Amino acid sequence: MPIALLALLLLTIALPARAQTFVDECRVARLAAKPAPREAQGRLGAPPALLTQAEIELTAACMAAALDRSFAAVGDAALRRVREWAPMSRSFKASEHGTFLRVYANPQAAESYARYEEGPRMPQGAIVIKRSFRVEPDGRARPHRIYVMEKMGAGYETGINDWRFAAYEPNGTLVGETGGRDNARVRFCAECHAAAREQDFLIFVLPKFRINSIGE
Ligand code: HEC
Repeated sequence: MPIALLALLLLTIALPARAQTFVDECRVARLAAKPAPREAQGRLGAPPALLTQAEIELTAACMAAALDRSFAAVGDAALRRVREWAPMSRSFKASEHGTFLRVYANPQAAESYARYEEGPRMPQGAIVIKRSFRVEPDGRARPHRIYVMEKMGAGYETGINDWRFAAYEPNGTLVGETGGRDNARVRFCAECHAAAREQDFLIFVLPKFRINSIGE
């Protein structure tokens, strides 16, 4: 086999492996000892039963540094400060396919977001993000994609209230952004969020996960 071809082959094997970096010290001990059936990871619309709330919180605390590194890797000055932003949901919550996520808002967005359906339209500079990690049925945990909604200047894209929807791989690589590069790869974000057009495209976490709700 020619060397160039071999190098290409090795590169294609190595690249996905790099995007799938597990954080060894955050492996969920119970699942490492006895893996859950794959169905426990859940499907779209069906909350997974993979982790208990205590395990979610323990894993989230353990994953914090790795998630920070992901955000830093994007190379956007605003996203580097994400650790100073206010959480907009009570804890990380289970989502589809074994991912766990939590919403955060920057200072320009927090006050309005925390009023949920009653909040005014977001000002320019508002950024709302989702931090997320993923857990395999055998307990291995790794950072998951970064989701961003950033309110741009008037005229950026009026049809979606000038939001920039963007997704990044955990290694910081841009998947796509509305109004910018690889726009087609993130149109589905805007399409689903358009259901909440009346709320400035914000869908909000379920009331029981909101920071202002009492009890559960
Ligand atoms: C199938 C529907 C759907 C798609 C597609 C979707 N989202 Fe969302 N998004 C939601 C829901 C539902 C919430 C509310 C929070 C929750 O329950 O996780 C949300 C919340 C958010 C939030 C927090 C702000 C808010 O609306 O409350 C951000 C940021 C976000 N999504 C970004 C994105 C990005 C970026 C994409 C595309 C890569 C995307 N979303 C694709 C349904 C969707």
